[in-house]
Amino acid sequence: MTNDRLPVLASQHGALRLLTLNRADKLNAFTPEMLAALDAEITDALAHDATRVIALTGSGAKAFAAGNDIARLVSLDGVAAYRDMMAGQRVLLRLHECAKPTIAMVNGYALGGGFELALACDFIVASSDASFAFPEITLNTMPGWGGTQLAVAKMGLACAKRFVMSGKRFAARECEAFGFIHEIAAPEKLFDSVSALADSLASYDPFAVEMAKRALNRAGELPLSAGLDFEAAQYAVNFSSDGARTGLRQFVERTRARSTAQANTAPVTP
Ligand code: COA
Repeated sequence: MTNDRLPVLASQHGALRLLTLNRADKLNAFTPEMLAALDAEITDALAHDATRVIALTGSGAKAFAAGNDIARLVSLDGVAAYRDMMAGQRVLLRLHECAKPTIAMVNGYALGGGFELALACDFIVASSDASFAFPEITLNTMPGWGGTQLAVAKMGLACAKRFVMSGKRFAARECEAFGFIHEIAAPEKLFDSVSALADSLASYDPFAVEMAKRALNRAGELPLSAGLDFEAAQYAVNFSSDGARTGLRQFVERTRARSTAQANTAPVTP
């Protein structure tokens, strides 16, 4: 299969692995093949040590992803639709839980499953011409790839209801108030913004990033006392790592060196 026919394209940019949904003529609407290819590319990126951050985007200038393929969806019976939703949820849950930080580089429409995919990422960096919606209600259906749960977790119940129960499309700038967008960039600067965020994430010890992400993901799922116990356990595991010991020691050494330098340059009083 030639590159332009692959359902998902992968490219490496330093520590960043960029995965591109590749069906621009249908606004990157999901097919089972695209979902399976995305799953395989996530596996590959997670296994590749030099990849420290995974970003997702859509091909073409118009869409990140316009959701599940409606032309295919319409032919499914209830059981097939259920299996379809379970397959989507499984891939999105993998992204949500994966050890490496993830960024949705939203370059246009993020609708239905596309919005769910973006919400499953740790960060959303949106182009100023991006827009977000759960249009399912306008089709007399509802989100099925985790949208009702992820939206509440990422923006709270009231904002999630505005999206899911109105079907209305909101521009990136309008979405800023909902709190789920990390940054908005001009379309021509979108990749640079994602790249800068990836560099910053990759500059920290990957184990510390992984442990912090795991603890954050449990918030809201566990009662506070159990969440605090989980955080303490993650803290202890992280604390025993070489990265934590080095990070703490380097801070102490820097502070000591600064104090010594200040003492040596202090004017001597007669
Ligand atoms: N499933 C299947 N095909 C889709 C699609 C989807 N979710 N979204 C867009 N497409 C296809 C269109 O059918 C069209 O194909 P064609 O050129 O063969 O006719 C192509 O992508 C371009 O879309 P078009 O509707 O012509 O673009 P537009 O700029 O006029 O409108 C949208 C863009 C996103 C507003 C419109 O395509 C839309 O509402 N899509 C459905 C979004 C949705 O409801 N998603 C949730 C699915 S559960």
